[in-house]
Amino acid sequence: MRTTIARTRWGAVLFFFFSLTLCATTTKCLVATPKITPTLVQLNTFSSQRDLPNGIEVQSGKAIIQVIALRDDVIRVRIARDGVLPEDASWAVLSSARQQYVSVTSENTNSAVGFRTKRLRVHIERATLRLVVTDLDGNILQEDAVGWPVEFHGNSFRIYKQMPADEHYFGLGDKVGPLDRRDQAFTLWNTDAYNFQESTDPIYKSIPFFMTMRAGRTLGVLLDNTWRSSFDFGKQMNGVYSFGSEDGALDYYVLYGPDPKQVLQSYAWLTGPPPLPPLWTLGFQQSRYSYGTEAELREVAEKLRADRIPADSLYLDIDYQKNNRPFTVDPEKFPNFVGMLADLKKENFHVVAITDLHVAALPNAGYAPYDTGIAGDHFVKNPDGSVFVGTVWPGPSVFPDFTRQSTRQWWGNLYKEFVSDGVAGFWNDMNEPAVFNVPSKTMPDDVQHRIDEPGFKRRTADHREIHNLYGMQNSRATYEGLLKISPEQRPFVLTRATYAGGQRYAATWTGDNSATWNHLRLTTPMLENLGLSGFGMSGADVAGFIGTPPAELLTKWTEIATFQPIDRNHSEKGTPHREPWVDGPEQEAIRRRYIEERYKLMPYLYSAVEEMSRTGLPVLRPLFVEFPEANADKHPLDLDAGNEFLFGANLLVAPPPFAEKLDTYSVKFPPLGWYDYWTGERISGGDKNAASAAPMQVLVHPRLDSLPVYVREGSILPMQALTQSTNELPSGPLVLRVYPGRDCKGSLYQDDGKTMAYKHGEFLRMQFSCEAAAGAVKIHIGAHEGTYHSWWSELRVEVYGQTSNASYTMSGKAERGEAVLDAAHHVVSVTIPDNGHGSDLEISAPQ
Ligand code: NOJ
Repeated sequence: MRTTIARTRWGAVLFFFFSLTLCATTTKCLVATPKITPTLVQLNTFSSQRDLPNGIEVQSGKAIIQVIALRDDVIRVRIARDGVLPEDASWAVLSSARQQYVSVTSENTNSAVGFRTKRLRVHIERATLRLVVTDLDGNILQEDAVGWPVEFHGNSFRIYKQMPADEHYFGLGDKVGPLDRRDQAFTLWNTDAYNFQESTDPIYKSIPFFMTMRAGRTLGVLLDNTWRSSFDFGKQMNGVYSFGSEDGALDYYVLYGPDPKQVLQSYAWLTGPPPLPPLWTLGFQQSRYSYGTEAELREVAEKLRADRIPADSLYLDIDYQKNNRPFTVDPEKFPNFVGMLADLKKENFHVVAITDLHVAALPNAGYAPYDTGIAGDHFVKNPDGSVFVGTVWPGPSVFPDFTRQSTRQWWGNLYKEFVSDGVAGFWNDMNEPAVFNVPSKTMPDDVQHRIDEPGFKRRTADHREIHNLYGMQNSRATYEGLLKISPEQRPFVLTRATYAGGQRYAATWTGDNSATWNHLRLTTPMLENLGLSGFGMSGADVAGFIGTPPAELLTKWTEIATFQPIDRNHSEKGTPHREPWVDGPEQEAIRRRYIEERYKLMPYLYSAVEEMSRTGLPVLRPLFVEFPEANADKHPLDLDAGNEFLFGANLLVAPPPFAEKLDTYSVKFPPLGWYDYWTGERISGGDKNAASAAPMQVLVHPRLDSLPVYVREGSILPMQALTQSTNELPSGPLVLRVYPGRDCKGSLYQDDGKTMAYKHGEFLRMQFSCEAAAGAVKIHIGAHEGTYHSWWSELRVEVYGQTSNASYTMSGKAERGEAVLDAAHHVVSVTIPDNGHGSDLEISAPQ
């Protein structure tokens, strides 16, 4: 008889009695649904098995377990308690990925059944039904927990996995807390978490994807289930982690690395990468709840230009609308809305307007979103068939039924006028959905949504199934609508709530954070984990939405946000303003300097964003993504590296771990050589490698006006002259900053920054490499690829880490030229023509 284990979770007592009854009379325990209710079904009895060309199916009583390989390194596990697999439809996983499969070799023995791919072995133990995934060398990558079978309880299910003491967990979007999810537990239920704090859970998004990392081997897991779900990484039980959901399909994917980058790329293959955004969205963004009048918005724009603070976009929060009604403009506050947009455009500003999803319930008032929505039957309903009404900003409101394709098309059409007026981007807020004055803060569980969608059976679902998906489908409707209106323009949509795969439609931000030093600190792991969950286009309200930031906090936050994918300054109504100039010229000068640096780095940033749009690799990355094996025991080096993060592959940003403290702190480096980004100096001691030495560190005395940033040796960073917006063409040459060292390379991507022309070859790509040998640095500059024309005709090549004058030769030219030393920045520079055919350059000490 199966031994009964003391259980702390639901089902414990039930399990005990149930085990006795069933197991006393049979050697096969716990297969059938017990007669007592609520039912607890645990899968631990093997009945039969069927080999599939791409996997295996195991029968356990009535239940069925299907494990198939989509690729040699991607498997999908589906378990159906009643033996019928649910329809193969998904909001998150692309059908192209779900339809792919590879042939496998079956491996059935006396103790286990399973199969092998070219990368993985997957076994299900006959005695216990434990699923075990190993690599081909037999290293266990993931295994069901010993003694904790998969269980179904009522409609819910839970899966338990062994949790080795040295395994680490990342992902689940921007859940608050430390980078490593180990010893934490989380609920996924999209929530308007105004004023969230370090221990607040759930918050706005539900991204049921996490990565496990152990001994240099990384795995990704996506639980594709939209219901309220939960993830427990050893908080409840020592040595066991688990995940489950209150209802819906038990359907999860396992993606094997071993490299974290491979897992991230596979996740992008499974759920899609973020689209290439318009270039202007990478500039500095100025927002406020709210710039309430046309005059005020114009004034902010003028001040940004007058003070020469580079900026690209301005946001209109709800007060531009008439009585907070989406898709209206208050003519009293914005008397010349279209003229204002045109004037701001001339000044190179893009305006992003909020368009919340709650449509004011305003019959017979000539309010088109309501009238056309009712006429087209586009709103969600109560069980009795009446339209559901909830209170949000406009007062009583109705809510679009976004899981209907026709409703999304109707919604997308609502943007036509704003687009023709010249609004450049759209902000979908409150889409958890938030509902005021009810304890649940959202719509009731029994609200009815219709699923009427290609690839899905037509049916009605209650809110519990759709809730976590609602924000994603809202932003999808907006994105697809904008694309339909202007197929050649890249849309920009910012969403607050979303679900796995939502990165295909919208960028995101971390919601209503606070103007505290603690929130500044929390931002780094939040953005890192968002990036590890597919959402690389992300930011947090600079200086915190709620409260009053001290001048130093706004300054430090502005510095750090320079190195985040979205750099948006935003604040709550009733709180002091946070525009860069608010605390006087001294603070403004520091903030300006950092924002300027972001603009100089724009070619580097845009190239990293373009890479993200192809591969899913986030711009803002934990160190372990680039250096998974940096520590001798291979634990992720971020765990000992304060709040450090990578901006693109080559820049290491090292804010103080607690930025309000004046204490000296140490910056830990991945085991390579590093250069100081600001001084160009090579950090001494940087040649150690992982196996031979403790990580290199430097001590930093924090200063308000500086943020330590370092460049990885072997990088070539493309940069440009300062502009005041991304719309301006930089003057002068393209700058290539060369940091000699191992595996020296770099690349550049450019295009028109606005349209889809890049998809037809109108882009410009360049590859660079360098080689340092005996007093000389050889630099290879690749030819231009693609048909987009560069804005430069010259390149300024800057070689860092230098202490003396140098001279240079170019391939094909006999004469030597002088390369000028700037001793303060440890750099020698030379300017050469760039005719697009590529060149080779050698810089060496003068003879
Ligand atoms: C809540 C959002 O999180 C915040 O950013 C916005 O300013 C307010 N709603 C008002 O629209």
